[in-house]
Amino acid sequence: MNVTTVTKAVRFLKDRGVVSAKAGHGTIVRGKELDHMPPVYERLRTLPRNDLSVVKRQGAVFGEAVSAAIKRVVGNAGTISSLREYQPSAGSTDVRQIGSLWLAAAGVKVAPDQIAIASGAQHALFVALAATMKPGDVVLVPSIAYQGIKSAAQMLGLGLIGVDVDDEGIIVSEIERHAHNPRVRSIYLIPTLDNPRSVTLPLERRKAIAELADRCSLNIIEDDIYRPLSLIDLPSMIELYPERTFHVSSVGKVLAPGLRCGFLAYPAVFREIVMQGLRATVWMADPLTVSVVQDIIVGGSFRDLVTDLQELLMKRHRVAIELVGNWISRHCRPEGNCLWVSLPAEIKAHEMTEYLRMEGVGVVPSSVFTIGSAQNNALRLYKGSSTDEASWKDALLLIRRAVEA
Ligand SMILES: Cc1ncc(COP(=O)(O)O)c(C=O)c1O
Repeated sequence: MNVTTVTKAVRFLKDRGVVSAKAGHGTIVRGKELDHMPPVYERLRTLPRNDLSVVKRQGAVFGEAVSAAIKRVVGNAGTISSLREYQPSAGSTDVRQIGSLWLAAAGVKVAPDQIAIASGAQHALFVALAATMKPGDVVLVPSIAYQGIKSAAQMLGLGLIGVDVDDEGIIVSEIERHAHNPRVRSIYLIPTLDNPRSVTLPLERRKAIAELADRCSLNIIEDDIYRPLSLIDLPSMIELYPERTFHVSSVGKVLAPGLRCGFLAYPAVFREIVMQGLRATVWMADPLTVSVVQDIIVGGSFRDLVTDLQELLMKRHRVAIELVGNWISRHCRPEGNCLWVSLPAEIKAHEMTEYLRMEGVGVVPSSVFTIGSAQNNALRLYKGSSTDEASWKDALLLIRRAVEA
């Protein structure tokens, strides 16, 4: 073996996107550069008084609807018998039907026999990854994305490659650049009202990604948990590419995060491995929680809860535009849960996060969502988490004063 052979081999691997070279950093294997940073709210510290770093469900409409559902479930004779034995891992026929109803209400048509009930979207995401990938495989992920994908990938020994995004979401030509890497098996997307930016991927990009995934035989993991809030009706990836799309959803961001009930819609050929994934993790979702969610969905009260939340989010978005509008992209959708505030370069997001924490406001800095070497300097705020309008306004004024000081 001589230098020319080695040079040729490195060029071969570079052309296929398996390695990349960066001046001053040497040659690295792509998909291994996971820089996990724990989300700030997991640090052992006192939680801020106005904690906008996580989703919280406020409001009387939610309290009334859920307490009525709990009372009905507790008073129902079938509840006790459902606890006497194990249920099918994917949920009983009745229960999978509620998954189908939930998805249909957001414009996604999937038959109940292609839906599994999970313990939240994070669990559904974990099962989808575990069912389709093996250690060392790589997932293409938007370079700014929900941090839960990092922890799931780390536990499963998967690599992530952060794909560049612009104001409208993931860039298709950038996916194409990595799609031929033989270790890449899947693309992870949050196409609707994404976390952390509340951006919705336009139709042309959705179609182009479906076509590209099909051409390169890649799976798509579509994390669409914010979809029920969307005011724009776009086809989901599972509709555009049903052959290999796993569609993840839950009630966590629309009803409340404490109701641990998620839905995983999957292509029928993966049924057996999805069942194994469910059995290997929780065996079955908690029947009590699922019954409460079932009551809320079948009884129709979820529609009022969705409308109530949409109104709150849009109202708070208007206040945000008024107070910190200079630092919010016009692509950040008003009905989205997340507000993404881009800071001027001289104010570092992690320092601002610390300052706000000392002032009693919890936010998350952009570094938590970054995958790969993308540079961002922003804060994510969950708009619905302030207990009232005055505390929402106070948090925004605090940011504005600090930026303008
Ligand atoms: C995009 C995304 N997917 C999944 C989850 C996890 O949702 P769940 O609480 O249903 O597990 C979150 C929570 O923040 C999220 O933002």
